[in-house]
Order: sequence, then structure tokens, then C-alpha cells
Amino acid sequence: MGYINKAYNMYNELTNKYMKEKSKSQIKKLSQYFTPHDIADSLFTDVIVIKKDIIEILDTCCGNGILLLKLIEKILSNYIPKEICIYAFDIDPILIENVASILEHVDVNNHDTKIKSKLYSEDYLNSDIDTKFDYIVMNPPYKKVNIVDVPYNLRGVIIGQPNMYHLFIAKALNELNGNGVLCILSPKNYLSGRYTEKLRKKIVTDYSVYKIHTFNNRRTFFDIKITQEVCIVHITRKHHKDIMISYNGNAPIKLPFKKLILDPKTNIIQTPRDMNDYALIDKFSNFPKGIIGRSIYMKTGKVVQFRVRKELLSERKYRQIKHGVPLIVYRHINSGKFTYSELINKKKNRAISIYNNGATKSILIDNRNYVLLRKNTDKKYDKLISCVPYMKYLDTDKLGIDNGLAYLTNCENNLTNLEVKGIECILMSKQFDDYYRMVNSSHTLNVYEFENLHFPDMDTIRQIGADLSGMDVTSELATRVMEKYL
Ligand SMILES: C[S@@+](CC[C@H](N)C(=O)[O-])C[C@H]1O[C@@H](n2cnc3c(N)ncnc32)[C@H](O)[C@@H]1O
Repeated sequence: MGYINKAYNMYNELTNKYMKEKSKSQIKKLSQYFTPHDIADSLFTDVIVIKKDIIEILDTCCGNGILLLKLIEKILSNYIPKEICIYAFDIDPILIENVASILEHVDVNNHDTKIKSKLYSEDYLNSDIDTKFDYIVMNPPYKKVNIVDVPYNLRGVIIGQPNMYHLFIAKALNELNGNGVLCILSPKNYLSGRYTEKLRKKIVTDYSVYKIHTFNNRRTFFDIKITQEVCIVHITRKHHKDIMISYNGNAPIKLPFKKLILDPKTNIIQTPRDMNDYALIDKFSNFPKGIIGRSIYMKTGKVVQFRVRKELLSERKYRQIKHGVPLIVYRHINSGKFTYSELINKKKNRAISIYNNGATKSILIDNRNYVLLRKNTDKKYDKLISCVPYMKYLDTDKLGIDNGLAYLTNCENNLTNLEVKGIECILMSKQFDDYYRMVNSSHTLNVYEFENLHFPDMDTIRQIGADLSGMDVTSELATRVMEKYL
């Protein structure tokens, strides 16, 4: 350990200095959120140890090099190679200079290991390296990019909106050698998102996911409130049948990787936290896939308040204004109940009615039965899904649903009371919540994710609804009822 302490001291000193001199906006622009020590340690927990004379490492966007230091420490605590050859990129030349000084402070005299480095202050995505690596490590920038800025050779893995970190992963995969390991700390979204279907296909077909570690809630890793779930993933070129799954501080469990793939078309990778979650994958797989999207539709509220002219919204109840209809917002959903009321205690966004006229016609929907869901989740709480039944409670022809809400309906837009109850029960159950959590990757409910889940068919939904007829559905009750159907 002594051999690396000086380097850590230097790292801490240079990182503090760097952060003091940078403004928040500069840091945000290049996504310069450095990995905290403990998270960098967890990146290499259970990493496959490669025993070779010369070990070649790449950090694609090294920052001040914390991942490199942790990996060197990990390698040397397991094995003494003759040489560790480090390649590191960062677009910021100051960071490359810093890493050069920090690496000089790794004192390996007591080991017979030489440390060599090739440091590049370049854009990694446009770099051309002909080496293949034993270890590639990264905490890449998370930022949407314009498709015209994506290098041609990476466009093949892109669908829709590209994100920098997807591109970093795609490029690094090509640079792994036969026994190599890619260790990624990044948002979890690429494991289940629509835009990364091709990237997942490549990973699942030509590589193996050897480890996935997920964290318990929205930890503020990087001194910012990240709006994404973060995870650690190890990918190898070599085929592995099993995957190590760990969550939070729990001991890892070994599972057959194939079982975690939700569907061979989308290759969504489910991330169980423990054996109970894993059992749910099997249980839900007895329900058909695609019920949401075929028999039930999930839609997002169309009223984006800041896009609607102010004079078309009102803080008064719709009955009190001429040509007004209710505007249902997430604050009307509380503790499993729907309550249409004024928002007097709120400072802003207090509109609860919208004028029904030519300007708003396209964003209003018929007053029918729906299941309403809050789009934003709060993982601090036990449950991800917060929903209520809406059984035409309000006396109106039309409704406005705020964009902070999603709603479920069917293709004829005529869910019965029984169907609403049944859907509500499924969504409210702990089992469904835990099942959905395995694919949810952001802090919002996502239509693509829902449409890919296994879900009870309409007959089963009606049966569940009938079991609950006349009862208020609480989460406990829903969980008990669902047990019968799983
Ligand atoms: C999230 S930080 C991680 C830094 C470091 N690896 C760590 O874990 O602390 C991302 C780094 O990517 C660098 N970066 C941003 N765009 C880049 C690009 N196109 N090529 C290489 N590095 C880039 C930033 O300067 C920043 O240091």
C-alpha cells in the first residue's frame, strides 16, 4: 500500500486545486465529475485478475486518474507483472498533465514492476489506437450528443438520441483483447433503454456481461444530483455463462446471465438485487409479454404547462370558470387517493383547470376511466410506482392531464371499473414494483420499459379486479392478492 499513498496524496491535492479553479458550468460542460474513492474501489471488486508479464490498461477519459490508481493497486495486490503499460485519454490537457505527475508518485521500487504511460490530451471518440487492452476502465461523460458529431464508425450502434457514454462503451468494446475486461461506471440506462438496443445486441452476442453492481438509491456521487441510476458493469470478450450480481453492500450472487435477458429482441438486461427479485423474473415470465402496448396503452399527459399560454390555465376549479375543464396534476395523487383540489399551499404551478377551446383541443382527452400514475419516482421510498384509479370521478366531458402524469387506458378508451381495479392492484403490488425496478433506469416511469414487461392478460386483470370489488386497494392488499396470481 505504501507504494501508492504518495500518489493518492498527490491526487487529492491536485483534484482539490482543479475543482477550486473550475466553475460549475465548466465542470458540467465536460462532465468532469470525478469518481469518489469508495466507488472507484467498488469498480474493481471481483474484477478478473489477468496474469501476464505485460499488462496493458486503457482509461478512456482519465480525469485525474483515480481509476488508474485503484486498478494498479488491485493488480499489484494480486499479482506482480513485469510491466504495467498505461494508456490514458482526457480531452482536458490540464488533467493529462496532472495524471503524469500523479503516476510519477507511484513508487514501485519494491515491486519488480515497471510502470509506463502514454497519455493523450485528445478526444477519445476520435482517437485511433491499434493496441488491444487487458483492462479498459471508464467513468465516461454522460451527455446527449448531436448525431452529426458522432464519428462515422460508431454510428452503427446508434438508434435515436446518442449519449456520449454509449459511444465510449461501443468504442472500448472493439479495443478489448481476447481475455480483456471492460470496467464501466455509468448510468444504468444502456441496460434497458430503447436507444441502446443495438449496443446491447453487440454486448450480448459478442461479449459476456460478467458482473453488474447496482446501488440502493439516488446517491449523490458526484456532488450533483444525478438524474440517472448509476451502475458498475464488467464486460469480457471471453464467454461466461454466469454473471455476478451485487447490490449495495450485499454479497454477490452468481446467476445464469441468460435468465436476466427480458427479451431476445430488445436484450433488456434485468438487474435483480437479490434472490427474491430473481424469483420474480421467473414468476412474471408466466404472464404474456406486450400486454401493455397491445391491450392496454400507457400514455403521457399532454399538458406541458409552460408551453400553454398563461391565460388558458386557471388556479380555480373548472366549475368556477366558463369553458373550463379539470387539469389533473401529480399533486392530485396522494397516498393512493385521487383528490381534485386547489393547490393553495403551493408557491407555483398552481393551475388545476384549463380552458377548453381551439388552442387546447389537441391536448385534452375524453373523461373516461383511467389508471393515473405519477411519472417521477422516488426511490427513497419503498415503492417506485404511485398510482390511483380514476373512474370518471369528475363531472366533465374533457380532461387535461399534466405531463408529470402518465395514464393507462385501452384501445377503445373504455376501461371498465373492474379492469381499472385489476390494473391498479397489479401496479400497486410490491411484486410488480420490484419487478419493474429491475428494468427501470431513470427516475421516471418509462413507456418503453412498461411495454416490454410481462403483464397479466385482460381476463386475469378482470379476475383480479373482481377479487377486489368494493374494496380500497392498499399496497398491502394488492401484494396479498398478487401472490395468488404469481
Ligand atoms: C466523469 S469524468 C471521470 C474522470 C475519471 N475517470 C474519474 O473517474 O474520476 C469524465 C472525464 O471525461 C473527460 N472527457 C470529456 N469528454 C471527453 C472526450 N471526448 N474524450 C476524452 N475525455 C473526455 C472529462 O474531461 C472528464 O475528466
